[in-house]
Amino acid sequence: MRITQNTLLKMYQNGEKFTILTCYDASFAKLLEKAGIEVLLVGDSLGNVIQGKQTTLSVTLNDMKYHTRCVAQGVTNALIMTDMPFGTFQESPSLAFNNATKLIAAGAHMVKIEGGRTMAETIQFLTQRGIPVCAHIGLTPQSFHQLSGYKLQGKSDAEATILLEDAIILEKAGANMVLMELIPAALAKNITQTLNIPTIGIGAGADCSAQVLVLHDMLGIYPTNARFNKNFMADASSIEDAIKHYVKAVKSGIFPGTEHHY
Ligand code: KIV
Repeated sequence: MRITQNTLLKMYQNGEKFTILTCYDASFAKLLEKAGIEVLLVGDSLGNVIQGKQTTLSVTLNDMKYHTRCVAQGVTNALIMTDMPFGTFQESPSLAFNNATKLIAAGAHMVKIEGGRTMAETIQFLTQRGIPVCAHIGLTPQSFHQLSGYKLQGKSDAEATILLEDAIILEKAGANMVLMELIPAALAKNITQTLNIPTIGIGAGADCSAQVLVLHDMLGIYPTNARFNKNFMADASSIEDAIKHYVKAVKSGIFPGTEHHY
C-alpha cells in the first residue's frame, strides 16, 4: 500500500518509528523499498556523495529534478521526500512554491526545506497550497559558511531554546514533519515530546519519531567518522541485509545507541 504522509502520521500516533534513507537512483529505490524503508529522501547530499563536492551549495534544481525522477521510477509504495536546494526557496514564498511544484512534478510527494523560523512564512505558503513540507533545523548544511562548518548545534541553553521555539513555530506554520540534524539527544527528545507532528533525527538521539542516514555513509561506501553514523555493511552479507538491519535497529530502538548520541 502506498505510504502517504497520513500513513506516517498514524505510525507516529501509534508510537511506531519509521525509517528513512537517502536515495538517488531507481535501483536503490527498489532495493530500499523492498527492505522496508518507508521514506526515500532525495537529499541534496547528492552534492557530496554523487558529485564529490565538499558542500551541497552548488546542487541545482535540475539535479534534484533528475534524481527525483530516477527514484520515482524505482518506487511503488515508498514516500519520496526531495530537498529544495540552496537558492531555490530562501528568496520568497512564491519562488519556493514555483520551484517546489517542479519537484512534485518530477515525482516528489513532500519537499524538505532547511531553516528555522525565517522559513515559517514559506512553509505556510506551500502547505496551504497543497505541498507537504518537512522542515530541517539544527545543522543545516546549506548554511555551511554562516555556521563556519559542520558542527553540533543547540549546545548552549540559549541555542537550545531558539531551536525549540523554531520547531514550535514551524509546526504552527503547517510543517508536516521536523528533521533535526546534529543536536544533543536531550534537546531532540524535548522537541519531540513538545510537538504533535513526527520528528526525524540524524545525530539527534534515539527519541525522535524516525531516523535518517545518508545511504553511502551507512553502507560504508563514503567513509565517515561521524559519531552518529553506523556502518551497517560491517556485519551484513549483502546490501539488502544491511538495510534490513537498519530498519530493524531503528524500529526496535537499538539504533541510534548512546554511543551515537551527543
Ligand atoms: O541531504 C541530505 O541527505 C539530508 C540528510 C543529511 C538529512 O538532508
